[in-house]
Amino acid sequence: MGKRSQFSSNFGVIAAAVGSAVGLGNIWKFPYVAGQNGGGAFLLVYLLCVLVMGLPALITEMSIGRMAQTSPVSAFKKLTGNNHWTFIGVMGVLSSFIVMSFYFIVAGWTLEYICQSISTLSFSGMTSDELTEIFDEFSTNSFRPYIWLVVFIAVTGLVIYMGVQKGIEKGSKVMMPLLFAIMLYLMLHAFFTNDVSEGYEFYLKADFSKITPTVLIQALGQAFFSLSIALGIIITYGSYVKEGNVVTTCLQISILDTLVAFMAGLVIFPAVFSYGIEPSAGPELAFVAMPAVFSQMGGGIVFAILFFLLLALAALTSTISLYEALVAMLNDTFGIKRGLANLIVGLAVLTVGIIVCNSINGHSIFLICGKTCFDWCDLITTNYLLPIGGLALMIFFGWVYDQKKVHDALMEFGMKEWFYKIYIVLVRFIIPIIIILVMLNQFGIFENLKN
Ligand code: TRP
Repeated sequence: MGKRSQFSSNFGVIAAAVGSAVGLGNIWKFPYVAGQNGGGAFLLVYLLCVLVMGLPALITEMSIGRMAQTSPVSAFKKLTGNNHWTFIGVMGVLSSFIVMSFYFIVAGWTLEYICQSISTLSFSGMTSDELTEIFDEFSTNSFRPYIWLVVFIAVTGLVIYMGVQKGIEKGSKVMMPLLFAIMLYLMLHAFFTNDVSEGYEFYLKADFSKITPTVLIQALGQAFFSLSIALGIIITYGSYVKEGNVVTTCLQISILDTLVAFMAGLVIFPAVFSYGIEPSAGPELAFVAMPAVFSQMGGGIVFAILFFLLLALAALTSTISLYEALVAMLNDTFGIKRGLANLIVGLAVLTVGIIVCNSINGHSIFLICGKTCFDWCDLITTNYLLPIGGLALMIFFGWVYDQKKVHDALMEFGMKEWFYKIYIVLVRFIIPIIIILVMLNQFGIFENLKN
């Protein structure tokens, strides 16, 4: 095996990890999940989940990668010398595959919306009903979503083919700050030109009665999804790092990621209420609300194109991370050459992507228990695989792996002793207990006990 590529600087790894974290999860998924789960109540629970569970889990994964210096599947074997925990890596790889099978489709939608912004002159004069119609017509079209799916997979494969450092690092350094700037502008624009009161009230005022177990599981899953954790992908990133303080790095990643999601809500919810869109509209929310904003904005066309372009690029840095994890696994574990591994992953994702795309098209053979494959992939990863993956990681790092080695490694990676004391309680007790309770509740155990 050749020498593993390294990031040229700590900034490189932050840029790449933020690139992986910030994506459709922040701007497309976060607002719609928040909209379906009571707005402010969800936001509050989400922020707590990021702080109490997301950040420690991120530190854990990054540290495992840094200790093992290899990709997820091999990492556990390398650390423990046996195969008992390899399943975490394997499960992670399978889960990233499931994430990719719907993620690439939505990534493709962003490309369609770049074109739509141009052809409709930034959706000018359209009502929210017309915008919903445009979305429905496109997403069930039997040609265009497939083309964009192919394009997105091909572009991702190409970037990976060009190499970790050049592809990921250079890209993220320019794209992320730009996306951040445009979100900031849109947020201020909404604030100064619209009546934002209703939107802010929905999004920022927590109605505690709306905090239910469902809200908790959705927030937890979304926090893990948004930070790109629990699937072992950050292990790969960690394996590219040799120096720098792991806590600072992870803190920066979490803050930036959460800020982008928060800002997306501040842009989308005022629009939702001004244009009469349902906050619980589901996956179409961002693709109806954002065009509604641009349709009424001076210079809307420039902002619309720029926004969807940057969203596509943010999605790209995320698909790169999902895709790279599989390529690295095939390469490290099975010794398959990267070029061939790249091709295998591309074709596999394309095949599943086409099936999932068909299910959105309403072909009933692709409906399982009345839900589309798209909904299933999203549900299975967010509500089950991510929490279970997170739980397995916590048990491994907090209980199974030699605690002296854990402590020494974390000190070497720059963690302070006082922080370690909090961190280890979270990793050993708090996070596993919360995840177990949430999972038991999902399987209806508590309901059965009551009866
Ligand atoms: N975090 C990304 C987003 O919010 C999606 C993503 C990329 C992801 N890599 C991941 C999710 C790994 C889970 C695991 O858009």
